[in-house]
Amino acid sequence: MCGIVGYIGNKSVVDILLDGLKQLEYRGYDSSGIAVRCPDKIKVYKAVGKLENLSAELMPHRSEISSATIGIGHIRWATHGAPTALNAHPHTCNCGNLVLVHNGIIENYKELREKLTALGCVFKTQTDTEVVAHLVARKYAETKDLTEAVRMATKEIEGAYALCVLHNDEKDKLVATKRNAPLLVGIGEGEYFVASDVPAIIKHTKKAMYLADNQIVTLTRNSMKLIDENGTELSQKVEVLPWEPVALSKMGFKHFMLKEIHEQPDVIRNILVGRMHSCDEPVVLNEVNLTKETLKNLNRIQIIACGTSLHAAMIGKYIIENFCGIPVDVEASSEYIYRKTVTDSHTLVIGVSQSGETADTLTAIKQSKAKGSHILIITNRPDSAMAREADSLLSVNAGIEVSVAATKSYIAQLVSFYLLAMYMAEIKGSLAESDLKSLKAELMQVPQKIEQILSNKEQIQHCAKVYANTKDFIYIARGINFPTALEGALKLKEISYINATGYPAGELKHGPIAMLDNTMPVLSILMKGSVYEKLLSNSEEAKARDARMIALTNSKDEKLKDLFENIIEVPDVQELLSPIIAMIPLQLLAYYIAEFLGKDVDQPRNLAKSVTVE
Ligand code: F6R
Repeated sequence: MCGIVGYIGNKSVVDILLDGLKQLEYRGYDSSGIAVRCPDKIKVYKAVGKLENLSAELMPHRSEISSATIGIGHIRWATHGAPTALNAHPHTCNCGNLVLVHNGIIENYKELREKLTALGCVFKTQTDTEVVAHLVARKYAETKDLTEAVRMATKEIEGAYALCVLHNDEKDKLVATKRNAPLLVGIGEGEYFVASDVPAIIKHTKKAMYLADNQIVTLTRNSMKLIDENGTELSQKVEVLPWEPVALSKMGFKHFMLKEIHEQPDVIRNILVGRMHSCDEPVVLNEVNLTKETLKNLNRIQIIACGTSLHAAMIGKYIIENFCGIPVDVEASSEYIYRKTVTDSHTLVIGVSQSGETADTLTAIKQSKAKGSHILIITNRPDSAMAREADSLLSVNAGIEVSVAATKSYIAQLVSFYLLAMYMAEIKGSLAESDLKSLKAELMQVPQKIEQILSNKEQIQHCAKVYANTKDFIYIARGINFPTALEGALKLKEISYINATGYPAGELKHGPIAMLDNTMPVLSILMKGSVYEKLLSNSEEAKARDARMIALTNSKDEKLKDLFENIIEVPDVQELLSPIIAMIPLQLLAYYIAEFLGKDVDQPRNLAKSVTVE
């Protein structure tokens, strides 16, 4: 979380920083700030809330800072200390000479704070970052060299950081470094950019260098020097970024989330291109290196992910076990990394992450890699830290997702799991030819079926109005759609702040049923198949407790009208593919409820799109 940018060159820096931060808003948006080098000294400006507040804050100062051509900027997702102007970055040492921005968490900040306080440093903020400002400043007092000061300070720091540092006495210099947090340097003509992610620099240059952990880069207008933690100079691995600048436009939609929901049919078509040619040909996954031999040696698969990606992983388990007969465990990365996990070279570990940067999943992946497991990464960012750890990569090609609530990246992850499971089943010969054919044929039809849902949203909008003022919402399902219930509930709670929960319907009577009365909406994901009748009985049980019943179904059964006060109909689809179809109305329901309530749909409170802290 948090985004950092830096610039050193000959152009006016303020708008470069503000635009860079705009591109990084997905990483956090509770406060922001910039520091720019003016002829007399470095000046710092901060604002609480969205980036436009910082732009407004800068308005009266524009003329005095417009000639500045060196600066750093930060957009914050608070970890230590509330989102106030004081806690916003950049942070400074006591004399104000040393100025820095930081992304990550300094784990030993308490010890450092005590030590530095004893040495006379006065702390102004509640952040972990401020210790770094004081520490680097003290090292600078000893060395009179900013790069060396940063190098020495980082030896005492534990945790994760990407840092961008300026000093009043080093007029033409910007120093940056990182450990367990992303950072890259963009290379232009007589100018350099530093950023947490590509979108902040791609408008300016495609030439870039990703920093590896513990590397320190020193930039002047005309030079770049890279060293390791021992001060040894390193050669620079410059690459051309495979990115095009994209104008982030809502294309006439009110919110990015609604636009991204509407992109889903094309997202699926995109994933299938080149990978599934026809029902009669095998699935082609060029970047997946799972041979017959590897698959034969596998005892099991572990899938690790967080949040929405975890829900995709749960459906992935269902599909892989069904198609391939290999046992699959799914676990939240944040739990996986703090226990003794049993994994070895006979385990395939699949990491699922839209951003490819989620700290917990990245750590989990590194742990399993160290134990010899084959690492397969399913991600929307083939240039991410997780992708760089992969033995096999499945890039989901969903395109940039701006809305913090994941929609199209989730559907793309699901389709990737279908492709992967079919691919492995074909290698193993574990699924009948006729089943494979029918799955492929229907998967190719799914985009049109989603289009049908998207062109007929009235029933969903109606439900949104009816239930928008509820305090709680329950989603129930069974089998392959239980994770759909979890994901539907997550979408609703993250953008509307309604307390929504997904349950496996069979569990309702083991406790949650006590909550039911005539104020509680219960949405039953009633897709035809092996558990349809069971779920119908569970829905009857909820109805008998007076709950306000809603069905999401592909059944035309007339008797549903007696049981449910509202029915959301979806096109028919076979059970194994139903999680894709069932999810679309749930995304729309969450969207329309949040929109009806006037919430900030694309940037819900307290969230960030890329969670780079554990
Ligand atoms: C919710 C959402 C999050 C992410 C989670 C993991 O809409 O997007 O729950 O799924 O933070 O992020 P990734 O997939 O980037 O690892």
